[in-house]
This record gives sequence, C-alpha cells and structure tokens, in this order.
Amino acid sequence: MTTPILEIKDLHVKVEEEDKEILKGVNLTLPAGEVHAIMGRNGSGKSTLSYVLAGKDGYEVTQGEILFNGKDLLEMEADERAAAGLFLAFQYPIEIPGVATMTFLKAALNAQRKSRGEEELKIPEFMKMVKEASAKLEIKQDMLKRPLNVGFSGGEKKRAEILQMALMQPSLCVLDETDSGLDIDALKIVSEGVNHLRAANRSMLVITHYQRLLNYIVPDRVHVFSDGRIVESGDRELALELESKGYSSFDGHAA
Ligand SMILES: Nc1ncnc2c1ncn2[C@@H]1O[C@H](COP(=O)(O)OP(=O)(O)O)[C@@H](O)[C@H]1O
Ligand SMILES: [Mg+2]
Repeated sequence: MTTPILEIKDLHVKVEEEDKEILKGVNLTLPAGEVHAIMGRNGSGKSTLSYVLAGKDGYEVTQGEILFNGKDLLEMEADERAAAGLFLAFQYPIEIPGVATMTFLKAALNAQRKSRGEEELKIPEFMKMVKEASAKLEIKQDMLKRPLNVGFSGGEKKRAEILQMALMQPSLCVLDETDSGLDIDALKIVSEGVNHLRAANRSMLVITHYQRLLNYIVPDRVHVFSDGRIVESGDRELALELESKGYSSFDGHAA
C-alpha cells in the first residue's frame, strides 16, 4: 500500500494559554489522489485543525500525531511544511499592502523552490506560468498588479488564492471555508480551479459548513466534525443527509 498523503492519529489540541481542549481525538487518513470534505457546525474545531496543520502559534498538541507523506509534520516549521508541499487556503486571507500580487506570488514560489534546493525561476518563465494559470481562473492581469487582497472582492481573494495554489503545485491542499462570501459565479470558478488541480499524487481536504460547495467539488469521502472530532464518515451522500437532517442528528455519535 502506498503511504497516505496525510494521516492524523488521535490528535488532541488545546489552546496554549488556557486549559481549553478544542480537538479531542481526531483520526483521519487521506490517501493520495483523494478529495475529502470535513463538514461541521461553527465552533466544532474545523479551523483549529487547519491551523494546527499549518503550524500556527497558539495551539498545543497534547496527544497524537500527524504524518505528512510519512513524515512527522509536527516536527516541521511552518515554512518547511510549505516547502514540503502543504498548501492552506484560509477562511480570512491576509492583506499585504504595498506588495503587488504578482510580486508576492513570485516571492512565494521562489521561497519554496529555494528551500527545496531548486533554482529561482527566471522572469519570463514565471510570467508564462502566471499567464497560463490566471487565464484558466479568469483572472485579469490588472488584478495581479494590485496589492495582494487589498480591496479585493471576496471572489477576487479566492481566485488569487487558487492561483497561488496552482503555481505552488502542492501535494496537500487544505481549503478552509473557501466558499464563504462567494457568489455562485465565483464559486464555480474556484471549484473549477480546484478540480483542475486534482491529481493522482495530490490530495485535498475541503472544510466547509454548507454542502453547496460539494456540488462543485465532489469529494471521495465526507467526514462529519462535531465537538473536536470526526463522528461519522461516508461518501458524498452523507453531505446531502447532513443538509436535510442537520448537524444535531450527528451529535454525540462516536466515529
Ligand atoms: N486561540 C483560541 N483561543 C480560545 N479559543 C479558541 C481559539 N481558537 C479556537 N478557539 C475556540 O475553539 C472552538 C473551535 O473553533 P474553530 O476551530 O474556529 O471552529 P470552526 O472552524 O469549526 O468554526 C471555538 O469554540 C473557538 O472559540
Ligand atoms: Mg472555521
């Protein structure tokens, strides 16, 4: 059997400064090439899981482990995780005033290449890559000249993020509530971008609150998150069931 891209085993996480446990024994195996969805109501700990994957400060793992392509993810610094092919799209993208989106993308890509021991991209090469990728996402060149996310609409922010993801060629993409604030057209473009990035050697974890996104990004498996753990897993039918029955029917179930 090939190594799963992501393996989370009995993960317990608390807030660093408090005695507040947020993740209470998460188990998840994400094989190469698959797209899994995590659904759960607000406050169930979905974003905390993505923050811990990213290596964000402020959280403490008290038990369990995370393997990323067989390696101990928790031992890696945040930049090492990115270099190793982990990409996270957050619910609230950061704004970078004064830095053109294009410049940011080039810096991000070259930082990743550098830590992999690869050479920096030459400008014409980079421009060609960006042109091709942005055309697919219907991103206008004008947007790339503006500072990253500053004054971008919700849809533009998500497109910029998916563009960055396309350029980085990650092995694991984690999308946290990528659908929030998107109108239907933007949702379609983002989903098409994501679907385009599906590959045999790449996995995706799509975190969402509504099943709407899963009409466009069809997951191989769906996991229901409740009170800091996965309480139920199934195929995409489970997402539809959740929508009709509501989250409360899954509360208190053990996985
Ligand atoms: N840094 C933090 N300090 C205190 N509480 C936090 C912190 N981060 C998350 N929480 C709490 O943990 C719970 C889960 O939050 P979150 O992971 O954002 O859930 P979701 O993304 O599913 O809405 C919430 O009750 C939230 O208030
Ligand atoms: Mg969240």
